[in-house]
Amino acid sequence: MKNIATIILAAGEGTRMKSSLPKVLHNICGKPMLKYLIDNVNSIGIDKVIVIVGHKAGLVKKLIGGIKCIKQDELLGTGDAVSRARAAILKDKKIDNILILYGDTPLLSQGIIKKLIEKHIATGAGATILTAQLKNPTGYGRVIRSSGNKIVKMVEELDASVYEKVIEEINVGVYCFNKKALFYGLEKIKPDNKKEEYYLTDIIEVLTKSDIPVESITTDDTEEFLGVNTRAELAKAELVMRKRILDSVMDSGATIADPDNTYIEHGVEIGKDTVIYPYTFIENNVKIGSGCSIGPFARLRPGTIIGNNVGIGNFVEIVRSSIGEKTKVRHQCYIGDTVIGKNVNIGAGTIVANYDGKEKHKTVIEDNAFIGTGTILIAPVKVGRGAVTGAGSVVTSNKNVPAGKTVVGIPAKVLNKGKK
Ligand code: UD1
Ligand code: CA
Repeated sequence: MKNIATIILAAGEGTRMKSSLPKVLHNICGKPMLKYLIDNVNSIGIDKVIVIVGHKAGLVKKLIGGIKCIKQDELLGTGDAVSRARAAILKDKKIDNILILYGDTPLLSQGIIKKLIEKHIATGAGATILTAQLKNPTGYGRVIRSSGNKIVKMVEELDASVYEKVIEEINVGVYCFNKKALFYGLEKIKPDNKKEEYYLTDIIEVLTKSDIPVESITTDDTEEFLGVNTRAELAKAELVMRKRILDSVMDSGATIADPDNTYIEHGVEIGKDTVIYPYTFIENNVKIGSGCSIGPFARLRPGTIIGNNVGIGNFVEIVRSSIGEKTKVRHQCYIGDTVIGKNVNIGAGTIVANYDGKEKHKTVIEDNAFIGTGTILIAPVKVGRGAVTGAGSVVTSNKNVPAGKTVVGIPAKVLNKGKK
C-alpha cells in the first residue's frame, strides 16, 4: 500500500486519565496503546506513518522510536492536528489517500481498517468513514444522514440537538480520505462549536455540500472501537485485549486451565500441549516451548525463554533467563539473568542473587546439575555440568562449582567424599 499514508492523532493529554503519563503511552497487556495502532497499520502494509504529538511530545517520540512525529503546539482540535501533517504528506507525491486514526483506540483490528481502505479505493470517494450502531451513543459524534440515507454531516455530542442526540449511528473515529478532498476540507472548517476547536469531523459536511461523495462502512463489533479516555475504559480495553491474546494462545495449541485468572501480555509465544495453570502472569515477549507445565502462580518476566517439556511451578519468578528442556523449577524460586541447561533440577526456594546493589550479574547452571533446596547462588557464578549443591548452601560469586562436584555449606565448599 505504497500510495497510502497514515496519520495517528496523539497530541492530547488525556485529561480524564488524571495521569502524568500521556494517555497514548498507557500500557495494554504490556504494550503502549499507540504501539498497537502503529503495529497494525504496518502489518497491513502501510509504511508511511505520521504521529501527531503534543503533550509530552519527547516522551511519546522516545517510546515509539523511529516513527515520524510532528508536533502540534497548541491543541486546537482534531482538524488542526491533521493539518500539521500537510507539508509532510504533500511532499510525498506517491500518496493519494490518507488513513486517519486516533491514538486512543487500540483495539481496532487490521481487518476493519483494511475493509475501510478497500471500500474507499473501490468507490473513489472523497472520504470513507467507519460508523457503528450503539444503543447508548453518549459521548460519541453522531452521523447525520439524509432521507435517502446519504451521509450529510457529523455532529459532536456537545453540539448535538435533542433530535441528533437520539441518533444511534456514531463516528468510530477511523477515516480514509482522498488527499485532495482532505486538504480542501481542512481549509474550509471553522472552530464554530462549543469547544471552539477545529473538528476533523466537520470536513464531512464541507465535502457533501461540494458534492464530493462520502462513503461509510459500519461495524457491529462494539469492542474494537472502544475509545480509552478514562482509567475504567483502560481496564476494559485490557480485558478485551487479554481475552484476544488468550484465545490466540489456545488456538495455537496450548491449554489455559482458567482463562479468567491467567494474564498473558502481547508477543508471548507458547508451544503445543503446554498447560498454563491459574494465576500465572506471563509478561511481554516471553517464549515457552511445547509440553511444558507452567504455574499455578508463576511469574515469567521479559527476556524469559523456556525450552520444551519444562516444569515451572508455584511462586516462581523468572526474568532475562533461559531454561533448557526437561528442567524443573517447581517451587518458590527466583531466577534472574541466568542460563540454565537441560535436565537441571532447581530445588525449592533456590534464589539467584543477581544484583549486588549496583549491577546485575550472570549465572550459568549447566546440564544435569542438581541445585539443592534453599541454595543461594551469588552471581556471577557458574555451576558445572552434573554438579550438586547441598541444601541451604550459599555459592559465592566467582566460586564456580566444578562439573560433577558437590558443594555444601556457607560459603559453599567442595565436598571431598571419604575425607574426615
Ligand atoms: C472524537 C471524534 C468523535 C468520535 C470519537 C471516537 C472529533 C471532533 N470527534 O471525539 O466524533 O465519536 O473521537 O472515539 O474528532 N487530538 C489531537 N489534537 C487535538 C485534539 C485531539 O492530537 O488538538 C487527538 C487526541 O490525542 C486523541 C484523538 O485526537 O487521540 C481524539 O481526540 P479526543 O479528544 O479523544 O476526541 P473525542 O472527544 O473522543
Ligand atoms: Ca477519545
